Amino acid sequence: PLRVVVLISGSGSNLQALIDGAASGELPIEIAAVISNRPDVFGLTRAHNAGIVTQTLDHKGFTNREAFDVALMQLIDSYEPGLVVLAGFMRILTPEFTQHYLGRMLNIHPSLLPKFQGLHTHQRALDAGESHHGVTVHFVTAELDGGPAVIQAKVPVLAGDDAALLAKRVQRQEHVIYPLAVKWFALGNLAMQEGKALLNGELLPASGYQ
Ligand code: GAR
Repeated sequence: PLRVVVLISGSGSNLQALIDGAASGELPIEIAAVISNRPDVFGLTRAHNAGIVTQTLDHKGFTNREAFDVALMQLIDSYEPGLVVLAGFMRILTPEFTQHYLGRMLNIHPSLLPKFQGLHTHQRALDAGESHHGVTVHFVTAELDGGPAVIQAKVPVLAGDDAALLAKRVQRQEHVIYPLAVKWFALGNLAMQEGKALLNGELLPASGYQ
């Protein structure tokens, strides 16, 4: 199985989807470690309950972003992963960090990228009057939320939605498409080449697999 390190900052529901996929045999991965930049988040409990090694690297203990990222890189690399999975990891990464894991780090972002990069995506989709919203899995590059898309899932925006309702609808899709993207990578079907995402050797569309 592919060795994977998962980075989290919060509840870890995407981490749980990966844990469940690995446990059922559906996902050919071994989660070598879960690393959080925040202590006491529920995602760490999920990992612990699954018997996975957990680490907390609190960014508040570092004087700057560069120093934190160097320490994080060393910690990740001590587990020798073939893939790094950002699952609700709420940190901006330095170019040195993204370069080091180029082509072997995935992120999930709760919008139909390139729409709504950054934070508060659900509220911003509502405020913009979008009829649809969704989620994107992408390779991580130096550009924030800007790497090549792997897969997207769309959901409708419904009358009466608030950000929490919409987030829930989006997250149900997250838990489907993130394990799928990780499975593709683990099977050797997904790669990044010359800044583009390839599935089974074919260039994926700019918005990823639909
Ligand atoms: C997910 O909705 C993910 O898309 C989002 O954080 C949530 C984490 O939930 N990621 C970002 O906003 C990245 N900028 P989880 O901890 O339950 O997986």
